[in-house]
Amino acid sequence: MSWIREGDLSILERFCASVIKAGPMPKHIAFIMDGNRRYAKKNKVKKLEGHSQGFAKLAQTLQWCLSLGIQEVTVYAFSIENFKRSQDEVDGLMELARQKFTHLLEEKDNLKKHGVCVRILGDLTLLPQDIQELVARVELTTRHYNTCFLNICIAYTSRQEISNAVKELAWGVEEGLLQPSDVSEPLIDKCLYSSKSPHPDILIRTSGEVRLSDFLLWQTSHACLVFQSVLWPEYSFWNLWDAILQYQMNYKALQKARDVYMEEREWQQLEADKAYVTEKLKQKGLAPHGDPHKRRTLLQECRAKREERIQGFLQALDCKRMNFLEKLSTVSA
Ligand code: FPP
Ligand code: MG
Repeated sequence: MSWIREGDLSILERFCASVIKAGPMPKHIAFIMDGNRRYAKKNKVKKLEGHSQGFAKLAQTLQWCLSLGIQEVTVYAFSIENFKRSQDEVDGLMELARQKFTHLLEEKDNLKKHGVCVRILGDLTLLPQDIQELVARVELTTRHYNTCFLNICIAYTSRQEISNAVKELAWGVEEGLLQPSDVSEPLIDKCLYSSKSPHPDILIRTSGEVRLSDFLLWQTSHACLVFQSVLWPEYSFWNLWDAILQYQMNYKALQKARDVYMEEREWQQLEADKAYVTEKLKQKGLAPHGDPHKRRTLLQECRAKREERIQGFLQALDCKRMNFLEKLSTVSA
């Protein structure tokens, strides 16, 4: 079963796709692919067959997303909590991942042709070593492709991702690359596993469960949350179409919430910068509200220096991550 499928939509699907494309379209959709085991039970097949069918549905959904012009998809394939499932099921899911990532590497010409960049988000060290190696190779092979993006969350929880980001920031301060006052919401965002992606516009969870289960908690504060009762292996083009329609019906409110947040964030940064300048002037024995020219110069200086530190830190972080992936990818070489 190929990851990248080529196939056209039916005439009716194509017609409805063109109708929906007349409205604002999401750029990024995240999926909690839930309900594989209930599907297996309902169809009297083994649990693992449910997960295999789940994978097949993922490949098909990616194709629909591409047909609809959605460039980025993020999926919850395996949470850190899922390690607590029976050994049999965990082993089965790991074997499925092993097979699918091996196949993905075999398909690398196809990935290149379609410009698919695949990123793996999660604490890779929790995975069996051969899978760590496979996913590192997948990520390194496709990292320069930029037509569309598939982010696979595996050994992932949002809390672990946020804790990891905080550790990266602490490392930056320890290394003297950052000052504690440089830490801000946008910088935390840049330290998340998802740092290279825009936040999802829609988060879809299937199977009727109405919780986020520690998935993309930071990234979905302004996303349209869509809970659908269909079991993941039974997901259809029409379910996706309906989710996009819900996004479009709520688009104005979502956009407004984002704008208000961005404005608030700019104000917060300005206030922090002003406080910094006032403190600097005090340290120099100058009146905090004295010469406006001096204040402006200090403000510009403070911003430029911070930007320089942040860029240096982000480069060092990128280098650290690349080295980590390169080391993983050559474990058995
Ligand atoms: C949730 O359904 C699904 C999972 C925990 C696994 C999802 C994995 C796939 C769809 C395969 C993807 C594979 C790769 C390699 C990306 P559930 O097991 O919680 O089912 P239930 O809610 O009915 O119990
Ligand atoms: Mg479930």
